[in-house]
Amino acid sequence: MKFFIDTANLDQIREAQDLGVLDGVTTNPSLMAKEGITGKDNIFKHYRKICDIVDGDVSAEVIATDYDGIIREGEELAELHQQIIVKVPMIKDGIKAIKYFSDKGIKTNCTLVFSAGQALLAAKAGATYVSPFIGRLDDISTDGLNLIAEIRLIYDNYEFETQILAASVRHTMHIIDCAKLGADVMTGPLSSIEGLLKHPLTDIGLAKFLEDYNKGN
Ligand code: E4P
Repeated sequence: MKFFIDTANLDQIREAQDLGVLDGVTTNPSLMAKEGITGKDNIFKHYRKICDIVDGDVSAEVIATDYDGIIREGEELAELHQQIIVKVPMIKDGIKAIKYFSDKGIKTNCTLVFSAGQALLAAKAGATYVSPFIGRLDDISTDGLNLIAEIRLIYDNYEFETQILAASVRHTMHIIDCAKLGADVMTGPLSSIEGLLKHPLTDIGLAKFLEDYNKGN
């Protein structure tokens, strides 16, 4: 299972990278705005900085919503760095653009996916990643994890190569549940990854080991 961090905050990206388990980064326009990164030039510079920190895939989202605009912007983003994955919204022109990018060998992440049907279309168009937003489904009393299970079943039935990128992961249990369901990738905040470290018996056990060691020294 690949671990991506879902942020545009460079300190957090560095911290996750230093942990040694980071496989990539996802961003979106809201995460960029949260860091105060505005305007195309600054946003593009920021993507380059992220690519310099991490070794893996970095999703960069197009703003255009029309076919020609998505193609223009996606090609510019893909030119920025070899690690860039063009993030395209799940809309009609987005699907057409994903097919175009896929034929040209440009990797894509189909974002804002909330149903199995949308995920099926993304795979048919040749998306590299599909991003079902599990947290946002949970927010409206709909089981986000069930969507991961449905997509896994459909993709396995037909051996689609599109990778399931569980997005909108909000906490550590989401990661564990996605791993059980066979999501290929998860993207979440640093806190959700760090939560995997924690167990009180580890802390108690370590304290006891150190105490006993110090008795004999
Ligand atoms: C995915 O790529 C999105 O950036 C993200 O996971 C959305 O998460 P949120 O619902 O917590 O905003």
